[in-house]
Amino acid sequence: MPNATAVINLDIEGPTISRHIYGHFAEHLGRCVYDGFWVGEDSPIPNEGGIRLDVVQALRALNIPNLRWPGGCFADEYHWKDGIGPREQRPRMVNTHWGDVEENNHFGTHEFMALCELLGAEPYISGNVGSGTVQEMSEWVEYLTRDGDSPMARLRRSNGRDEPWRVKFWGIGNETWGCGGNMRAEYSADLARQYATYCRDHGDNKLYRIASGARDDDYKWTETLMQQISCFGCEATPKNYFQGLSFHYYTLAGPWEAKGSATVFDTDDHYRTMAAAQRIDRLLTGHSTVMDMYDPRRTVGLVLDEWGTWWDVEPGTNPGFLFQQNSLRDALVASTHFDIFHRHAARLYMANIAQTVNVLQAMILTDGDALVLTPTYHVFEMNKGHQDATSLTVHLVSDDARRSVGDTELETVSASASVKDGKVLVSLSNLDAGEPAEITLDLRGGTVGEPVARILTADKLQAHNTPEDPAAVAPRPFDGVTVTDRGVSLTLPPHSFLTFQAALD
Ligand code: AHR
Repeated sequence: MPNATAVINLDIEGPTISRHIYGHFAEHLGRCVYDGFWVGEDSPIPNEGGIRLDVVQALRALNIPNLRWPGGCFADEYHWKDGIGPREQRPRMVNTHWGDVEENNHFGTHEFMALCELLGAEPYISGNVGSGTVQEMSEWVEYLTRDGDSPMARLRRSNGRDEPWRVKFWGIGNETWGCGGNMRAEYSADLARQYATYCRDHGDNKLYRIASGARDDDYKWTETLMQQISCFGCEATPKNYFQGLSFHYYTLAGPWEAKGSATVFDTDDHYRTMAAAQRIDRLLTGHSTVMDMYDPRRTVGLVLDEWGTWWDVEPGTNPGFLFQQNSLRDALVASTHFDIFHRHAARLYMANIAQTVNVLQAMILTDGDALVLTPTYHVFEMNKGHQDATSLTVHLVSDDARRSVGDTELETVSASASVKDGKVLVSLSNLDAGEPAEITLDLRGGTVGEPVARILTADKLQAHNTPEDPAAVAPRPFDGVTVTDRGVSLTLPPHSFLTFQAALD
């Protein structure tokens, strides 16, 4: 049986794990917004002001820190003024990116802000650079955040909202290298500076402006943007044009043309997927290193505002709706990402899984009034104690918990740890498809009390939840964590994810 030792110094505190790396994403894409979050006030599905309450209730249990909206690619053809005022009078448009379907704009600014309030999440609004104007974006900020008397504040009041909202996270375009305008990095950097200039801080609402960044390993893009962060003429009080820089990375098991099924796959596909998931470590290191050159004091946050698995759509569904099932394999992709995110806590400020409901690696799948929590949902729930916790470095040592996958080495045990409120939370994944792993946690600089552990696993990697079998993959209590002289030990079953919490003595 492969074995691994994880050395953790309980008394050496690392950087804080920003809660925003547990962020979410809701795009006007397929059935994410319509059917997923929004059913309308007249729906027989229980709702508050049109927002479905079963989805809200399930997501509240995750402590969602932020929700990105309205896209994605959709953001760069979205005109926010179409989504305010009486719903029946709102103009319609064609959602050319996603399914070529008609968008009725019934879910707009007020509905999104109401959703965020119900979820207890901070809004992250992605503004239109690709087909919008500077004035349009500037006015959206004013509409949302300006108090007192102004044209946009008056317009907001005429639509029933007196008080301004607080909005911190503001995206300046999306994938400007692709669907957001097919720009060159230099041009995109100029636009980021221009748009950021007119996204004003109204009153005490301070924006965290996020420039549209790279894809995968396009470090040149990151460098071009980072060369442009410092505001000209602000030498007296140095100021950045933008506070965050995004990048996107999706996990695929193979080439784009042959992504494969979410639930029909073999062991080789699984290992290729896990190797692709672990690639995020190299990418975060690469982008962070470039950022360190231009911003050694880390005043700009790295924002991975789209990540997750991307499979073929479920048979018989609209190819433009990106609806996919979600198996135990997806859960292990998520748990591995989080271990890596925790290691990059010093630079990684935010990450947003794509997407929250009914699209790509979702937390929740709905079908009419039925709702299913996916295996990925359970990883977010089991890991939520890491939010805003202090990271602890985990040194993993193993001779045999690895496999060759193509030209890379896949580490089949993944781990991370943090401490908050006097409690240690440890996350462990065994990515091996068939072998258990013997784990020793060598805890130094302190001791821990009796651990409380839960495990997420199933008889096979392809296991997934359906309305007929909603708990095929669900966390269960695990009593196999033993406290020893050195720390703790346990045997981690194949293809499993486990968390345990223990008080620091
Ligand atoms: O998440 C789906 C799409 O993937 C987003 O709209 C786009 O930004 C990315 O290419």
